[in-house]
Amino acid sequence: MLRIGVLVSGRGSNLQALIDGIEDGRLEASIELVVSDNPEAYALERCRRHGIESVIVRRKDYRSKEEFEGAIAEKLKEKDVELVVLAGFMRILSGNFLKHFPSRVINIHPSLIPAFQGLHAQRQAVEFGAKFSGCTVHLVDESVDAGPVIVQAVVPLLPEDTEDSLSERILRYEHRVLPQTVQWFAEGRVRVNGRLVVVEGAKYGSLPVNPELEKF
Ligand code: GRF
Repeated sequence: MLRIGVLVSGRGSNLQALIDGIEDGRLEASIELVVSDNPEAYALERCRRHGIESVIVRRKDYRSKEEFEGAIAEKLKEKDVELVVLAGFMRILSGNFLKHFPSRVINIHPSLIPAFQGLHAQRQAVEFGAKFSGCTVHLVDESVDAGPVIVQAVVPLLPEDTEDSLSERILRYEHRVLPQTVQWFAEGRVRVNGRLVVVEGAKYGSLPVNPELEKF
């Protein structure tokens, strides 16, 4: 069982996808702690419903970003977390946090990075007139939405798309690629060599998700 910690700021639908994968036995992980920087996050309600321990760590309760991040790292370390999953966590983590979990922090972003990094990625794709976007699970480094890619899923845009309709189409894939990635970590199959991340034994060359999903 891989011990994971999940950082959230809002709705928590990706957290829910992890919970569902664990509850139905496809995801061999345990959520040891959910950390929210937002006391109003609906993700916290999901924790209550599923008996998952959660803690609120607010930036404004700390004098510096360093102390705030130190507090989060400490709570995750206390739980012996092996993988940190950013699932809609709206803050940029610095090296002070990342050094505690080298190559062990992942994030889900709703675009095919390096396109449409930062906030409102789906709106950016619609306004740009892109014909494809998608989602990416990547390792977190000190850049913003630019760490080494683990898996990407391609999603088409339709002429009538709005930010909401595209977000919904992308989200369906987010809820598959994120638990699948955690499962790859649980199986010890993720190899990192600089910018190149390879999932051992995975099938590469497939569309719309590369590498191909197995359980999700
Ligand atoms: C998702 O679109 C994710 O890709 C982005 O933030 C959103 C979080 O949604 N990083 P949710 O809180 O998981 O529902």
